Amino acid sequence: MRSPLVLAAGTAGTLDEMSDVLDLSQVGGVVTKSITQLPRKGNASPRITFTRAGMLNAIGLANPGLDEFVKSIAPRIATTPTTVISSIAGDSIEDYVNIADKMDQVDGLEIIELNVSCPNVHSGLEFGADPEALKELVSAVSSQIQSTKLFVKLSPITVGTPHTIVDLAKVAIDSGAHGLTLTNTVPAMGIDVITRKPILSNTTGGLSGPAIHPIVVRLVHLVYSQFAQEAGIPIMAAGGVTRWEDAAEFILAGATCVQIGAGSFANPRTAIKITKGLDRWVQRMSADNVSDLIGSVVV
Ligand SMILES: Cc1cc2nc3c(=O)[nH]c(=O)nc-3n(C[C@H](O)[C@H](O)[C@H](O)COP(=O)(O)O)c2cc1C
Repeated sequence: MRSPLVLAAGTAGTLDEMSDVLDLSQVGGVVTKSITQLPRKGNASPRITFTRAGMLNAIGLANPGLDEFVKSIAPRIATTPTTVISSIAGDSIEDYVNIADKMDQVDGLEIIELNVSCPNVHSGLEFGADPEALKELVSAVSSQIQSTKLFVKLSPITVGTPHTIVDLAKVAIDSGAHGLTLTNTVPAMGIDVITRKPILSNTTGGLSGPAIHPIVVRLVHLVYSQFAQEAGIPIMAAGGVTRWEDAAEFILAGATCVQIGAGSFANPRTAIKITKGLDRWVQRMSADNVSDLIGSVVV
C-alpha cells in the first residue's frame, strides 16, 4: 500500500465516490460499504446523529446488494487507483460464503473484510461474539476463497459473551483469516430530552469518532502484544482517527494500517492530511519507514 491510511467501511461509499473530493491514489486503500446478499434500504431516518465527541449511527447496512454490486460497481475496481477492500456482511454462514465466493472472482479486488458484527439468525448473537460461530464462519469463507486475502473486523465490545477480543481474534486467525480489522463501532444510545424519545429511529446505534479512540488503542495494543506480533498478523486499526497523532498512536500500539471513518465526514481529505503528518513524524523519529515504528510503544 502507498500509505497506511485506508478509508473505512460505510464511510466512503460503495467504492470510488470519494474520488470527487480526494485523489484516491494518495490513500492506501478504500473499504466498500458492507455488501449483503440482497439489497437493503437500511433503517429509517434519523440514522445518523452527532455527539460531542463523534457520531452515532444505525444505518442498518443500506447497500445495493451483491448482484448489483458485481454487475455495476465491481467492474471499476481494477481501475480504482488504490487497494480495494470489500466489506461483506450476512445473516447466515451460507450468505457470507456465497458473497465471498463472488467477490473472490472480481478482477482487482485484493482483500475481503468480514463484518462479523451482524446477528446470526440461528443464535441471535453476533457472529463476532460467539467463538463457535466465528470459527465456523471464518473457516467456511477462508476455504472458499483463493485470490483474495481475508481480514476479520471485530467489535470493540461484544455483548453476551465472556470472551475477550484477544480470544476472538485468535479464533479468527486460527480459522484461516490473514489479518484483523480492529474495530467496529461501540454500542451506544442518545435521547432527545424534550420528546424523551431515542434520537435514532433504531433506538440504539454505534458510536464512532474521537470518543472511542483510546478504547481502540488499548484493544490494538492487547491483540498485538498478546499474539499478533509473534504470529506476524497485520492489524488495520479503526476508531476515532482525526489527526496524525491518532494514527501514530495506532501504529505504535501495533497497527500496520489505520482506517478513517467518522473523520472523513468532518473533512473528506482527512486521510491525505494525516498521511502527510505521518511522513513528518517518521522523519522526526529518525525512522526509514512508518513500518519501522509498528508496535514500538515503550511500556
Ligand atoms: C456512517 C457509518 C457507517 C458505517 N458502516 C459500516 C459498514 O457498512 N460496515 C462496517 O464494517 N463498518 C461500518 N462502519 C464502522 C466504520 O467502518 C468504523 O469501523 C468505525 O466507525 C470506527 O472508526 P471511526 O471512529 O474512524 O469512524 C460505519 C461507520 C459509520 C460512521
